[in-house]
Amino acid sequence: MPRVRPRRLRATPALRRAVSETRLHPSDLVLPIFVREGVDEPVAISSMPGVVQHTLDSVRGAVNEAAAAGIGGVMLFGVPEVRDAVGSGATDPDGILNLATRVVADEVGDALVVQTDLCLDEFTDHGHCGVLDAIGRVDNDATLERYREMALVQAASGSALLGLSGMMDGQVAAVREALDTSGFIDTAVLAYSAKYASAYYGPFREAVASTLQGDRRSYQLDPGNRREGLREAMIDIEEGADIVMVKPAGSYLDVLSDVAAASDVPVWAYQVSGEYAMIEAAAANGWIDRQRAVHESVVGIRRAGADTVLTYWATELAGWLNDGV
Ligand code: PBG
Repeated sequence: MPRVRPRRLRATPALRRAVSETRLHPSDLVLPIFVREGVDEPVAISSMPGVVQHTLDSVRGAVNEAAAAGIGGVMLFGVPEVRDAVGSGATDPDGILNLATRVVADEVGDALVVQTDLCLDEFTDHGHCGVLDAIGRVDNDATLERYREMALVQAASGSALLGLSGMMDGQVAAVREALDTSGFIDTAVLAYSAKYASAYYGPFREAVASTLQGDRRSYQLDPGNRREGLREAMIDIEEGADIVMVKPAGSYLDVLSDVAAASDVPVWAYQVSGEYAMIEAAAANGWIDRQRAVHESVVGIRRAGADTVLTYWATELAGWLNDGV
């Protein structure tokens, strides 16, 4: 007869609930939102069923719903009508992302942490996250100058947390310095520290109508590198990041766990577009229980060490949690 019986604590729902190590709470979720310039109606994203490119008007409803569900915040992405080599739309105070930030900040006030993607890829005609040098390589230090300008415009537009997703060396220090010397001492920096060159960003490229040719392997991390993910997070903390992030989430739980163990700032993770699309596609085929798979995928990311998860299911999942599902 077994002397040790772990099953004892699994016998009833009440016991299982009492010993559960990882719980989800709406405030630990952040919703990424796309806002597109020049459209009158929200535009569906075919590779992300249920996700749309919002208009400057429809985004109001989405953020009010998010606030009512009690999630922690929203991460805004802009989809501009016109792009150029240096991504001018990113630093135009009336560029789509900055306009959307003003609209959202005005709409939800302090009910949500209003966050913005600080990267050039949505705004450049070549689709890279930075400006290019004479022979077409992404120019790290010239890009930092653009990021500094973006940071000031985004902060002035009402973003409380700048999501630095471009993977340029020195970007956290550069943006922190720009903010501090312009009086934005309370604007926080979320560093996408360990951002891997991933196939799971595929649907996002449709979501932002990306023009990218080639790939981002000269600046995003090699999927095989675990130590380097931790190193990037440590560098960003040293440079002044208020929060560090690992992205994508599901295929990088080891990196997330390493960063969570070593970090003395909050650690977030981004469950990206491809992770969303895979579960939606399997569920649409009746191959997986959608609600359980969504919940389990986010629990796994939290269990590995994420304090907060960016997920396209944030509002819906928060609704389930509020309903006690
Ligand atoms: C860069 C950025 C990307 C994502 C978030 N910020 C795209 C990329 O690096 O290619 C991907 C998010 C997702 O796939 O859900 N601005």
